[in-house]
Amino acid sequence: MFESYGTGEKLTQAGFLAEKTTTLVFLRFSTVLGNRGSADTVRDTRGFSVKFYTDEGTFDLVANNIPVFFIQDGIKFPDLIHAAKPHPDREIPQAQSAHDTFWDFVSLHTEAQHHTLWNMSDRGIPAPTA
Ligand code: HEM
Repeated sequence: MFESYGTGEKLTQAGFLAEKTTTLVFLRFSTVLGNRGSADTVRDTRGFSVKFYTDEGTFDLVANNIPVFFIQDGIKFPDLIHAAKPHPDREIPQAQSAHDTFWDFVSLHTEAQHHTLWNMSDRGIPAPTA
C-alpha cells in the first residue's frame, strides 16, 4: 500500500497524492543487463517499476537508481540493447558488460560514458541496508 504525505497536492489534482490517501500498488525491482535468473549481485543499473491502482485509473512509474540514462535519443534504444545484451548466438556474457559490443557503444556515446561512470561507482552494486 502507498500512503501519500500530500506533498504533491499543490502540484497535481491526482486523487492518490492527496494527504493520507492509500493506494494499492504492485512493485518490481530489476537490473538492466541480466536475463531471467541472472544474479542480483552484479554491477548494473537498478530499476524499479510501480503500478498505482488508483480510483482514477492505473498510474505507471518507472525509475532507475542512476540519475542519468545511457541515451538521450530513444531511437538509439535498440542499438543500446543489442550492444549490452549477451551475444545472441551464445547467450554470454550474462548480466555484465565484459564484451566489445558494449564498450564499442559506450566509446561512441558520451551520454553512455556518463551513465557507465555512475555504474562504476558504488551505485552500480547497491549495498543492502540493515
Ligand atoms: C528511450 C528511452 C527508453 C526506452 C525506449 C525504454 C524501453 C524499455 C523497454 C522496452 C522495457 C521492457 C518492458 C517490458 O519488458 O515490459 C523497459 C523496461 C524498464 N525501463 Fe526503460 N526505456 C527507456 C528509458 C528508461 C528510463 C530513462 C528509465 C528510468 C529512469 C527506465 C526504466 C525502466 C525500468 C525500471 C524497466 C523495467 C520495468 C518493469 O519491471 O516492468 N527506462 N524499458
